[in-house]
Amino acid sequence: MAGARRSLLGSWLCLGVLLGPLLSAVLALEPITTAVAIAAVSALTGYLSYPRFYCGRLVECCEENAYNSTAFQEDLGNKLFGQHLAHDVIFRAITGFMNNENPKKPLALSLHGWTGTGKNFVSKLIAENIQEKGMNSKYVHLFVSTMHFPHNNLIHLYKDQIQSWIRGNVSSCPRSIFIFDEMDKLHQGLIDTIKPFLDYYEQIDGVSYRKAIFIFLSNAGGDVINKVVLESGKRREDLELQDLEPVLSVQLFNNKDSGFWHSSLIDKNLIDFYVPFLPLEHRHVKQCVMAELRHRGKMPNEELASRLANEMTYFPKNTRMFF
Ligand SMILES: *[C@@H]1O[C@H](CO)[C@@H](O)[C@H](O)[C@H]1NC(C)=O
Ligand SMILES: *[C@@H]1O[C@H](CO)[C@@H](O)[C@H](O)[C@H]1NC(C)=O
Repeated sequence: MAGARRSLLGSWLCLGVLLGPLLSAVLALEPITTAVAIAAVSALTGYLSYPRFYCGRLVECCEENAYNSTAFQEDLGNKLFGQHLAHDVIFRAITGFMNNENPKKPLALSLHGWTGTGKNFVSKLIAENIQEKGMNSKYVHLFVSTMHFPHNNLIHLYKDQIQSWIRGNVSSCPRSIFIFDEMDKLHQGLIDTIKPFLDYYEQIDGVSYRKAIFIFLSNAGGDVINKVVLESGKRREDLELQDLEPVLSVQLFNNKDSGFWHSSLIDKNLIDFYVPFLPLEHRHVKQCVMAELRHRGKMPNEELASRLANEMTYFPKNTRMFF
């Protein structure tokens, strides 16, 4: 599973899945700057007596609340491009939830938009801001429908696994994060299995799930989001949540193909926030490449960024919108 995590979300900033391999390929052709190795070993013995250091370096401890809203806001501002709506909603949702000592239910976010718009990337940012090791934390769990639950004849096995994993992990760390990718491909039976964990129960069999975070990713609704962006007549920066919410909810309630939306997750209001991801434009992909170059300690290179952004597919051609 660790391998899957790394290849999906990598060390890489925005637009990971699509742009990452391309940029890596280009960089591989250029002289490589040697990374500076940090000698951690020498300091080891001294740190063992301090719980904080002990936790960070050798053994990961469950973070009760290490969330820093200023840092998260900065992260979103510096690394997420072209998604002002997602930025606002997610910042509000996470900050409100983390500042609430006594939430009545776990936080459930549903992220919608086409592949490559930043849904996985934002999940990674959230994870990093709540558990220090981010996606590599043992308290952050990523499930990809087609990878982890591919066989319909094994649904019973998967159900048992999901239940015992969620229970086991939340028991050992209330601030566990569960990310379900490809939600639109998840079997209805498995959705029903997750449902009780999202509800307003004080506890189930002695375990409280109220501090956990569930993030659902899907392409469902991506096409209507794109349509609104193209046809609203507003500048994209002026789009508001109200412009998207009505069409998005109609689409999600009525679309027979997106299994998720039949389920009582929606009926019972178990999802706290629906987050739309807009299709990206050429300039956003470019910003993203520039940020990635800085992150990798390379000189920001406008021309390289432009070249890579050109490689991506845009539709319709004249608006250079990225899907
Ligand atoms: C929160 O993050 C900001 C920005 O990164 C930093 O300046 C500040 O010291 C942090 N606060 C705490 C309490 O760690
Ligand atoms: C926590 O979840 C992982 C899957 O992400 C699973 O392999 C592990 O067994 C779970 N731990 C417990 C204590 O249930």
